Amino acid sequence: MDQPRGLIFKTGFILLFLQAVTCLEISNLRVPPSYSINRDETERTPLVLGCDYAIDENESKGFVLKWKHNDLQIYQWIPSRNPVVFSSFKGHIDVDYSESDDRLHKHSALKFINPMANYTGKYTCQVQTYHSVASQTAHMQIIVPETDFSLGYQRETNGSTIVFCNVGEIYPLPEVSLLIDDEKVSDVVVFEQVQDYTGYYNVSVQHILPDQNKNMKFDCEVTIPETDYKLRTSMPYEGAAFRANAAALQVFLCTVFSVTLARTLTLF
Ligand SMILES: *[C@@H]1O[C@H](CO)[C@@H](O)[C@H](O)[C@H]1NC(C)=O
Ligand SMILES: *[C@@H]1O[C@H](CO)[C@@H](O)[C@H](O)[C@H]1NC(C)=O
Ligand SMILES: *[C@@H]1O[C@H](CO)[C@@H](O)[C@H](O)[C@H]1NC(C)=O
Ligand SMILES: *[C@@H]1O[C@H](CO)[C@@H](O)[C@H](O)[C@H]1NC(C)=O
Repeated sequence: MDQPRGLIFKTGFILLFLQAVTCLEISNLRVPPSYSINRDETERTPLVLGCDYAIDENESKGFVLKWKHNDLQIYQWIPSRNPVVFSSFKGHIDVDYSESDDRLHKHSALKFINPMANYTGKYTCQVQTYHSVASQTAHMQIIVPETDFSLGYQRETNGSTIVFCNVGEIYPLPEVSLLIDDEKVSDVVVFEQVQDYTGYYNVSVQHILPDQNKNMKFDCEVTIPETDYKLRTSMPYEGAAFRANAAALQVFLCTVFSVTLARTLTLF
């Protein structure tokens, strides 16, 4: 009496197991952690998000691929139809883009047209059939590099000397550190401004030198948290000479060349 029942139970178990094996699965979500928008349009590398999955033609009934940005659906593709782009991404995704001629993969990737700072966020790729659904999410930070990066010092009319580091028109808000003889200065005064339309930041960090008569080395370091983006520049300060030559108001800036060099070294 027990024998057939046991067999049915075992068969059921095996079928369940098989179904689990052929289940739809995303093997690789290609969302870069950060993407830097080159201000020179001719030098921009394309921004493409990819979603790799294995799917059996036999199990593909009802296949739909969706991309979401911060949980809002922005893209939908059904094989043998054209992709559809939603909301504010309309006109900003290349619907003709394709990485493969395979019927079930042709329009799985997202290629952006002129990405903007506000494309930062969580991206989810979701694939589904009548039987199965799978999704994966990753965060992408868009970076807009600065138009200005300068380290310098200034003698105030009251005799104090202020060291400053300015970063202009950058996105997102960076961390700006001032270092004197390779020691990070903790008591800096920070000024931050946000540009209305673009959302880009201007940041200025300032510090009054406690002893302006000795020789020192100033450094300014700019980083964007959770990305590789880093700028650094350095300049000498000749306290003794500065004191002897000091006029009422003077501004000293480090050269633009060292800034450019620092960027070239840290960006790649
Ligand atoms: C798909 O189905 C066809 C016919 O139903 C069958 O011949 C083929 O072996 C199946 N392929 C796979 C990979 O299961
Ligand atoms: C990004 O900003 C532009 C211009 O301000 C706006 O038109 C668009 O809707 C925004 N996109 C997103 C995803 O917030
Ligand atoms: C000199 O002026 C600056 C502002 O320009 C101020 O921050 C600083 O405290 C002043 N120094 C002294 C010694 O009063
Ligand atoms: C921000 O910085 C840029 C470049 O340094 C400058 O042109 C612009 O005037 C600044 N904006 C504000 C609001 O200070």
